[in-house]
Parts: sequence; C-alpha cells; structure tokens
Amino acid sequence: MTSTSSASDTADARPLRTAFVGKGGAGKSAIVGTFARLLARADDEPVLVLDSDPMPGLAFTLGLEIDDAGIDDAAVVERAEGEEGPRFRLRPGLSAEDAVEAYATVAPDGVRFLQIGNLRGGVGSIMRSQHAFHQIKSELPRNRWHVIGDLPGGTRQPFLGWAGFADSVVVVIEASAKGLLSGRRFAKLAGSVVEPDRLFAVVSKARSSDDAQQVESRTGLRVIESIPWDDAFADAEREGLAPLDAVPDAPAIQQIQSLVHALQGVLT
Ligand SMILES: Nc1ncnc2c1ncn2[C@@H]1O[C@H](COP(=O)(O)OP(=O)(O)OP(=O)(O)O)[C@@H](O)[C@H]1O
Ligand SMILES: [Mg+2]
Repeated sequence: MTSTSSASDTADARPLRTAFVGKGGAGKSAIVGTFARLLARADDEPVLVLDSDPMPGLAFTLGLEIDDAGIDDAAVVERAEGEEGPRFRLRPGLSAEDAVEAYATVAPDGVRFLQIGNLRGGVGSIMRSQHAFHQIKSELPRNRWHVIGDLPGGTRQPFLGWAGFADSVVVVIEASAKGLLSGRRFAKLAGSVVEPDRLFAVVSKARSSDDAQQVESRTGLRVIESIPWDDAFADAEREGLAPLDAVPDAPAIQQIQSLVHALQGVLT
C-alpha cells in the first residue's frame, strides 16, 4: 500500500464506510473486489471488505481461492445470563480489530476479507459467526479502517440493519428495463438510510454513453461512475480469476480505478 492519494493525506480525511447494494447479478461483487484492492493500493489505511452473502463470489474477484469460512467458533462466546446484548459476542479481550487481524483472510494488496460464513459448519456455527460479524462492523475504529460492504442482491438484507455500518451507499445499476426499475426502488430505500449527498449510483455493464443519463433520469440518483460492459473482464471472472490480475488494463478496471478516486474525492 502506498500513499498516493492527496484526499487521504488531509488532516480530516475519513476512511470510507461504503455499502454496495443492487439487484441480483448487477455486478456488485465484480466491482467491490476490484475496488477494494485499488483502494488499498491508493491509501495507507487498511481496507476491510465485508461479504455478507453466504454464497461464494467476491473471493474470486479479489483473487482468493474459494474462501467462505466465517469467523472461527473459537472467537465467539455465548453471553453470560443477565448480560445485555445479542446471544453471542466476541470472546472477552478480543477487540473488533484483533478479530479482523486474527480471522479475516488476507487478500492480494493486503485487503482483509471477512465472510459472514457459509452453512458448511452448520446453522449454529453461522449464527455465531454472524453475531461476531455484526459486532466487528459496529466496533471497528472509525478513524482507521476503510470498510467496504458487498451486500447480497435484493433489498431485504441491506435495509434490515446490514448496511448500518455504512455512511455512504452505492447502488449498482444496469441500464436495462429491469435494472432501471429496481434502481428506482433502491434509490428510495437507500435514501432513508444515508444523507442524499452520500448516495450514488454506479452504472454497471454500460453499453452506451446514454446509459448513465437513463439511470439518472429514471432513479434520480447521481451517477458517480459508469463501468462499461467488458468482455475481457467477464472472461476473467468466468475463469474464477481476479480481473485485476488477469486483465489489469481492461477498460472496466480503469473505470473502477476512477470510481475509487471519485468516491475518495467526495467522501474523505
Ligand atoms: N463490466 C462488466 N462486464 C462484463 N461482465 C460483467 C461486468 N461486471 C460484472 N460482470 C459479470 O456479471 C455477472 C454478475 O456479476 P456479479 O456476480 O458481480 O454480480 P452481483 O451483483 O454481485 O450478483 P449477486 O447479487 O448474485 O451477488 C458475473 O458473471 C460478472 O462477471
Ligand atoms: Mg455478489
């Protein structure tokens, strides 16, 4: 990680707390995996990427082997009777930051990757992991970590507390008939959890220069970046390779790089 960002060098720079939401298949994980690595390259502060989808996806884009284990059972204890709060918590003495250092997977470019956990460990295990996951995202020091969330498709999870860590939301939208209609709904929902100046749209898989304009007029959201449809990017993803490693000069990567600068510029 090198410090090349002038935005992050200012005295009052605040790390990003950004949730990416959108319709299933819109391109959230493809964008977030690349975004997190480019952010880590551009900034000294560490980057934690949260994957709250129990299905594998984001790990591949980051350049990890399949990795969807949640937080280890050993990190979590049941609360004592009479102690307030959810049923499980991080074990005493283990801070949110310690838990990230100990249990998050280190992805390329030093990005920390934390997955809510899949069901291989059974329902009990995913419950423990889930509680720890929530505790980490609410207790991680605000002034140090960039926290980038890749939330699963649809509206239920993102807007029932899961986006609570975020102070900015990016709605990923394809300029298709269905994509635009969903984008309108996301705009309304997200508008009730963050300030209007912290709510953005990213056009995904853009096919014409008209797409951004359509997204803005149909959703009322400000388009902060447009990521083109990119065959090379799609091919890498299909192979399970990180596009950033396989095709670093692909047009979609260049636009995700611009998205990093744009968000840092307006949010930090
Ligand atoms: N710019 C792009 N050009 C071409 N293909 C893309 C682009 N962005 C994403 N894709 C492809 O679109 C598909 C869906 O992308 P992705 O899995 O990132 O969507 P998602 O929003 O995370 O989906 P889910 O809601 O299921 O988590 C993938 O096959 C991905 O490789
Ligand atoms: Mg995804």
